[in-house]
Amino acid sequence: MSRPLVVGNWKMFGDRQMVAGLVGAVAEAAAARAGVAIAVCPPFPYLSQAAAVLQGSALRLGAQNLAVEASGAYTGEVSGAMLRDVGCHYVIVGHSERRSLFGEDSALVARKFRAALAADLTPILCVGEQLAEREAGDTERVIAAQLDAVLELCGEQALAGAVIAYEPVWAIGTGKVATPEQAQAVHRFIRQRVSAAGSTPTILYGGSVKPDNAAGLFAQPDVDGGLIGGASLVADQFLSICDAALPR
Ligand code: PGA
Repeated sequence: MSRPLVVGNWKMFGDRQMVAGLVGAVAEAAAARAGVAIAVCPPFPYLSQAAAVLQGSALRLGAQNLAVEASGAYTGEVSGAMLRDVGCHYVIVGHSERRSLFGEDSALVARKFRAALAADLTPILCVGEQLAEREAGDTERVIAAQLDAVLELCGEQALAGAVIAYEPVWAIGTGKVATPEQAQAVHRFIRQRVSAAGSTPTILYGGSVKPDNAAGLFAQPDVDGGLIGGASLVADQFLSICDAALPR
């Protein structure tokens, strides 16, 4: 396994004061946590400020979304090249909130994934099943289809250097975390599926990860870290989750 990775997804929260305080605190703390790669994904308007705050530190920057197109008359869109230009290393694609609230289907997510690669960004591809799909025994079928959309458009090797985040939709923002065993089972499925194509991606778990459940999740052999929503907005909580990812 490569170095574990913990990514904070701020969603539509934050302001300039929070960027200065929270990104500053995490950037400073990252130096003492070299065993884990750490990234934060604030909203678009704050990326430049965050890049300036974390400059010279080990903390990396990511965005939460990007346009399919490289440039052009697409009012309101933000391209991968722009994200790279302001200092982003990562970009989240296919988060379940984008899929369910903004109509992004797997075909569009795959095109965003391809746009991220073209802009030299590392995509964090989110996959995950709804509660009804899990209860119907469809988890693996749903996840396979989400992965296959990317593999079909971008090629079998597309996931080699990518980050995949398994985020069961029923666990996001609900406080209902997957058990370590549930997470491990899906992570193993994802790893087997993409390793058949020769890829060894970093596979994160996301969905109500908190300081008190992180260690159990990260102890699973196929869980390489976490994508953290709510708990990434509080420095102490986020850093204690980063600590739980440190190799022991
Ligand atoms: P949560 O969000 O940690 O608040 O559940 C995770 C995510 O949506 O990435």
